[in-house]
Amino acid sequence: MAKINKKQIKKLLTPQGVNTRALRRSIRLKFHQTLYFPKDFFWGTSTSSHQVEGNNIFNDWWRWETQSKKRHHSGKACDQKKYFEKDFEMAKKMHQNAHRFSIEWSRIEPKEGCWDLEAVQYYKNIIRSLRKKHIEPFVTLHHFTNPAWFSRKGGWDCASSQFYFSRYVKFIVEELGHDVHYWMTINEPLVYSTMSYLAGLWPPEKKSYWLMLKSYRNLIRAHKKAYRLIHSIYKKKLWGKPSVGIASNSVSIYSYKKHSLFNWFFALISDWIWNHSFFTFSRRYHDFIGINYYFHYRVRGLHFQTLRFYLEARQEHREMTSVGWEVYPQGIFDVLVDLNSYKLPIFVTENGIATTNESKRSRYLISYLKEVYHAIQAGVDVRGYFYWSLIDNFEWEKGFEPRFGLIGINYRTMRRKPRHAALLYSKICENNSIPHSFLKYLGHSVR
Ligand code: BGC
Repeated sequence: MAKINKKQIKKLLTPQGVNTRALRRSIRLKFHQTLYFPKDFFWGTSTSSHQVEGNNIFNDWWRWETQSKKRHHSGKACDQKKYFEKDFEMAKKMHQNAHRFSIEWSRIEPKEGCWDLEAVQYYKNIIRSLRKKHIEPFVTLHHFTNPAWFSRKGGWDCASSQFYFSRYVKFIVEELGHDVHYWMTINEPLVYSTMSYLAGLWPPEKKSYWLMLKSYRNLIRAHKKAYRLIHSIYKKKLWGKPSVGIASNSVSIYSYKKHSLFNWFFALISDWIWNHSFFTFSRRYHDFIGINYYFHYRVRGLHFQTLRFYLEARQEHREMTSVGWEVYPQGIFDVLVDLNSYKLPIFVTENGIATTNESKRSRYLISYLKEVYHAIQAGVDVRGYFYWSLIDNFEWEKGFEPRFGLIGINYRTMRRKPRHAALLYSKICENNSIPHSFLKYLGHSVR
């Protein structure tokens, strides 16, 4: 596999760092062929417990959903508790060799200090089923939901949250650790803090800067504790060295106007907040960097109330997904190159599109993957890619309408049906490469 050399990168250096656009362009010109990924690359998909399992009646989201008729109700979700074997078989047929899912804390500890061993067995079965199919499990310990009792005690804005979370981590890692190597302690901590404590859109619907910062600080501390704990459990049990990290919501951020100092300044701040703050405060507590990539912003100013600084894609008539997020494949390249500065292996732990237009999904998949490929060529240590999501699922406050799945679900019958992009992804996973013929999907933009 040809790599761009140091001399070439030096040429592209500007006082601000690498000129990533030029770098991307220069690499692109060289490769009009099958795009091969590194050996042992992980190809997978992601899900989270509350979005697919169904009947998570002991968590704060369930309580929140059922408090008002106006809110979407997760109900049975995808009934994955019943159908996980079938779903993983489909993943296997697609030649995936990794799968990211989350453990539902409220199933494991439905009442404070009471452990549900049946629930533990359920996750053991999930891991066993994946392992039998030679699919590597990537396990998330917290993906937005909390046990209802934990929220009643004050949730993440209380310092005691770290203690409760660590107790759960210790219990579940001792139970499952034997068969798991990759752990993600927390999914998108900053998204959770802003949505739940600042924007007030998710439970507990708080709108306070102070609480948002407190909850973010507690999540950072909880991650550090969990990191230490997981490593010490593995050491004590002689299970080898685990790989522990988070899945962070990484955003590609540009200044709206090239020559506006004001725009540039806020772009710099937003970039630090969204892409670096967590890693800065928890340096040395990551064995890898997990990135969930969906967003590209052109920053114009700062809206303190929502921590939003950017122009909406809608306002600019850019190409969007069905949930209004801009389609901007080059952004994932920039983010990967930027995060490579931590000198850790990187996994794209989520990336995907909500759409009902299959040609758009296919184009999205190929164009983002192509940028991941270019990042690898530029020397970024990307070790895996997880499309969000394996199946359609419950998209939080937006309900079931956004369709993110490679496999579509008929929520009435729970029938699963692979979509066109699933076939493309399957070929990519099977060959560990993007065949040249797939590049035709990049075509023209579909609105
Ligand atoms: C979250 C998922 C969510 C996806 C699409 C990610 O930020 O981790 O739970 O479904 O975005 O919105």
